[in-house]
Amino acid sequence: MGDNEAKKRIEELRGLINYHNHRYYVLDSPEISDEEYDKFMRELQALEEKYPQFVTPDSPTQRVGAAPLEEFGIVEHRVPLLSLGNVFSTEELLAWHKRISGLLGNQSCDFVAEPKMDGLAVALVYEDGKLVTGSTRGDGYRGEDITQNLKTIKSIPLAVPKTAPRLFEVRGEVFLSKKGFRKLNEERARAELPLFANPRNAAAGSVRQLDPRITAQRPLDIYIYGMGWAEGQIPSTHWETMEYLKSLGFKLNPHNARLPNIDEVEKYYQGWVEQREQLPYEADGIVVKINRFDLQEQLGVVGREPRWAVAYKFPATQATTKLLDIGISVGRTGTLNPYAILEPVSVGGVILKRAALHNKDDIRRKDIRIGDTVVVQRAGEVIPEVVGPVLSLRTGGEKIFVMPPRCPVCGSEVVKPEGEAMTRCPNISCAAQRYELVKHFVSRGAMDIEGIGEKLAEALLKSGLIKNVADIYTLSDKREEFVNLERIGEKSADNVLKAIEESKHRPLARVIFALGIRHAGSETAEILAKHFGSIDKLAQATEEDLMKIPSIGPKIAESIAAFFKQKSNLKVIEKLKEAGVKMKAEAAKSQAALSLAGREFVVTGKLESFTRTEAEGKIKELGGSVGSSVTKKTTHLVVGADPGSKLGRARQLGTTILDEKQFLKMLEEKK
Ligand code: IVH
Repeated sequence: MGDNEAKKRIEELRGLINYHNHRYYVLDSPEISDEEYDKFMRELQALEEKYPQFVTPDSPTQRVGAAPLEEFGIVEHRVPLLSLGNVFSTEELLAWHKRISGLLGNQSCDFVAEPKMDGLAVALVYEDGKLVTGSTRGDGYRGEDITQNLKTIKSIPLAVPKTAPRLFEVRGEVFLSKKGFRKLNEERARAELPLFANPRNAAAGSVRQLDPRITAQRPLDIYIYGMGWAEGQIPSTHWETMEYLKSLGFKLNPHNARLPNIDEVEKYYQGWVEQREQLPYEADGIVVKINRFDLQEQLGVVGREPRWAVAYKFPATQATTKLLDIGISVGRTGTLNPYAILEPVSVGGVILKRAALHNKDDIRRKDIRIGDTVVVQRAGEVIPEVVGPVLSLRTGGEKIFVMPPRCPVCGSEVVKPEGEAMTRCPNISCAAQRYELVKHFVSRGAMDIEGIGEKLAEALLKSGLIKNVADIYTLSDKREEFVNLERIGEKSADNVLKAIEESKHRPLARVIFALGIRHAGSETAEILAKHFGSIDKLAQATEEDLMKIPSIGPKIAESIAAFFKQKSNLKVIEKLKEAGVKMKAEAAKSQAALSLAGREFVVTGKLESFTRTEAEGKIKELGGSVGSSVTKKTTHLVVGADPGSKLGRARQLGTTILDEKQFLKMLEEKK
């Protein structure tokens, strides 16, 4: 392809991608499949790689990929970003209306009302059709340059049509949906990272990342709510300006409304007071704006607040009440979770009787005592929580909270490992923990009992057919009851029983992993199995013995020792042994006799039927080795979805390439 031809195709592809991007992220109405979109994107990437002279900053390939910054630059706002005055009731809204009506005399005035999203304000400057600067509000006069980060938000156009002003600025709110917030916090909890308090903090934290690649992973969105300034002519009302911005490709809140009078504004507000929970993002009120720009100008600005707009806030999400007591619930992973038992109080229209207290350290840090008057908070997606005590109302009769020494569900002595926030019940037969443990025990990387999924695990526990993981091996004695369980049917019941039987021969490392000892992942289990050779030897090991093993730190050692101190856990192990589950390492099968001996595998991309670690585990079990990059020594590359550069390297080297299906088939054959 010649230079000219390449340039033409690159421009064509950008046009196509921008068009479909807008359909997908702004209009929510895609025309083509994800695969087709990806195809365009890959073609463009390939061409730009080959012809780097044609890469421009507004190319859709440039959304991610900028290098991390040392610090943000400063952006001076040409026209300051104002804030808003608040009203909290119908009376206050009407008082605002009366004031402006007085100033405007008998000029007719309509309104635009918009949900007030709870995120952070940004300003986007476009020059010659391209996004050139994106910044935070900062103090209203100077903000931070977060262009690279904002470019990763797909609903922000990188380029606008030629009909747009040569130079202009739009403003909007960047936010995280409630769902995106929940997902992000779930991921952070799994990675034991501190959680974001609410979607606004999460959005702000995401946008103010020095590394745009992190921002790119956060599901941020934007609604544009106004034009900051522009070169040349723009419409004469806010509503028409918004329609115009929409035509340029900007994303507007579809719930914005043009309303003829203040009574309609009040109705709009009342509608959202009832409906706000249904919004997929958090909103803390509505914004009411005078529609005509000439009237806006007449009304002007006092201080930093325009007279022509006001935030009409939703009812408060905080209230004060008495903390009657602190109760304890036991989570599915054994954590003892204190919660507040409150004198019932109405917060934002809902009666609260309970609220979260998180953990013991948190209670101490906030100095919350039983009998305190406390501030409680309930806001959208966040679980109702106790914010803190009202110290001025303390009488001296309040009681300091102490964690109970025993699990309130099963009575076992609780543990609180050094340096960890949570107190835990260490008993794997504890009713509160059974479900998670059974699910883990049967999972693929553990005992791999096919056929026991989440539903069946729950049904088995609910019916009382099993009480702990060892009881799984007694199901064959209770076949009749098992078959009758939730209409599982003879055939699938027998298949499950067969799978249970087979699982008895899993290697010791898998059994150790399956027990669900905290901090003992599959790799640790592997090391323990090799070092001790049997579960009995492992059970007898002291914390000091464990610490002597390289790669076992104090945290893991403490957790393992605590696990085997627990009598009820030893009972479960005894029962597993009786059932015939293998509790000793193989009299090591000679490596050479294993079917994948001498082969080196690399796994890349996303597999459907297992995680990468699981796939690697399977390879190792059959005697294969696993590498992290494709080299001359690599004999096989296993490829999942979105494989990246390893695939190209393997092709160059002529390495055998297996897709997931072929890989599964190979495992089956080599078993
Ligand atoms: S208009 C003078 N419209 O609320 C007009 N602001 O308290 C100022 N906000 O900094 C902004 N949704 O971050 C406007 N539909 C909306 C809004 C909105 C959320 C935020 C924005 C602003 C703050 C003002």
